[in-house]
Amino acid sequence: METNRIRCPQLLEKIISAEAAAQMIEHGHIIGVSGFSPSGYPKAIPLALAERIKKSNSPLQVDILAGASTGDELDKALAEVNGIRRRMPYQTCTVCRKSLNTPDGIAYQDQHLSLSPQNTRYGFYGDIDFAIIEACAITEEGGIVPTTSLGNSPTYVQVAKKVLVEINTSQPVELEGIHDVYVPLDPPNRQPIPILKATDRIGTTYIPCDPEKIIGIVFTDIPDNVRPLAPLDDTSRAMAKNLIDFFHSEVAAGRLPKNLLPLQSGIGNVANAVLAGLLESDFTDLEFYSEVIQDAALDMVEAGKFTLCSGTALTPSAEWLKKFYANLPELKKTIMLRPQEISNHPEVVRRLGIIAMNTAIEADIYGNINSTHVMGTRMMNGIGGSGDYARNAYLTIFLTASTAKDGAISSIVPMCSHVDHTEHDVDIIVTEQGVADLRNKCPRERALEIINNCSHPDYRPMLLDYYERALAATAGGKGHTPHILSEALSWHTRFTENGTMKK
Ligand code: COA
Repeated sequence: METNRIRCPQLLEKIISAEAAAQMIEHGHIIGVSGFSPSGYPKAIPLALAERIKKSNSPLQVDILAGASTGDELDKALAEVNGIRRRMPYQTCTVCRKSLNTPDGIAYQDQHLSLSPQNTRYGFYGDIDFAIIEACAITEEGGIVPTTSLGNSPTYVQVAKKVLVEINTSQPVELEGIHDVYVPLDPPNRQPIPILKATDRIGTTYIPCDPEKIIGIVFTDIPDNVRPLAPLDDTSRAMAKNLIDFFHSEVAAGRLPKNLLPLQSGIGNVANAVLAGLLESDFTDLEFYSEVIQDAALDMVEAGKFTLCSGTALTPSAEWLKKFYANLPELKKTIMLRPQEISNHPEVVRRLGIIAMNTAIEADIYGNINSTHVMGTRMMNGIGGSGDYARNAYLTIFLTASTAKDGAISSIVPMCSHVDHTEHDVDIIVTEQGVADLRNKCPRERALEIINNCSHPDYRPMLLDYYERALAATAGGKGHTPHILSEALSWHTRFTENGTMKK
């Protein structure tokens, strides 16, 4: 046990086992945990709690408030024993996904990530009984030094009645210094957030915490368990090329400086692939002001292409994690982790002029975006931070392959089966087929731009046919946004029983 990681002497006597910590948790407790996109989440205590629930004869369910998704040792372990009553604000766990898409399953609140800490402080999610925070060290005054994510941890520590800390010795103490912890005051006392340049540091390198509030410290060495990303394929390479060509044309038109504006990139395979494309481009001296730092962003740092890489969570693959730990002192000069309230803050996003690049499940012919609900009802992950950026960025870009499920589904549809981002927020749509520039276009112009530039040739005639009939049906002053409502959504139900699209 590396007790020297606890630099506050009075806290040494608080060391307990994970089982003892789990015993403190009762049915109905509301728990705020560290963790964001499988990194920096507590592992030993949730596993001990899941074990306790498994053996218990009486129901034991808790509400889990996190930064975003967490790893298997938390979401999956607890969901498998039906231990989660409510969950917010984002998740990516297959067991949770099944449960929250079931009527008596997890009550899931899919919430804008930058807003979730403020809503927590206002008490929208109830009184927080425990904050459980993964740390690499505790400072002399009791400050908690987080690990590979910051997420909502500062707010959970601030409002929770009691704090449990998990010191994870698989996370190097050298992480200290990478964080920039700042919690704004709430209205009516809010001050301007003093980030004027993406590189500005405005807070502390630890989460301030009254040592009296820490009621237990658990040691563990279970590593972060980040899911691997899909390898790059021809479709993602084509999307990246289309995006980079678009950036070149914006620079040539004088609408972007030659090192662009600070970039934000979403989560998942597509977002990673797009950044990988930037690595091969001639763009340099770029700044990354984003939420999740995936492998491709770290490749950009390593290649010297990102002069700043700011996010709220690091989610490297196992291979990159090793490299990250080995080169931490050097990488720390460029990488910064902020609370998600700040990495995604509308005020900062608008001020810095972020270029937001997020992934859609589907886009409709007028530019509305569905990021969350497959076929309009089945929750995939959640809106995450995409709305924080999309609504406030200088340029809002959504990317998607033009088809899903090996071509069986068109990602360009007449009407989104669920809308997360409206046509008013979306500037650019990119697929492997091309780029639709929606700026300064009315709905009729947008429809043709999207269908002709972004849809897959297999589906283009069907989409044009729908659009032309919708135009005819709304002729004579009956439609600014032409639709045939009885048909618009039946597009989604044109499936055979085995799930293939009837063409
Ligand atoms: N219809 C049905 N399924 C679809 C689909 C569509 N139109 N488009 C994608 N999918 C499915 C894929 O088939 C895949 O399914 P699988 O897991 O069973 O293989 C899954 O969605 C993920 O798609 P993939 O192409 O691998 O993309 P991704 O890993 O880049 O994820 C999102 C795409 C939209 C699910 C993901 O980016 C997300 O959750 N976004 C919302 C939150 C967000 O944007 N956060 C970033 C803020 S910083």
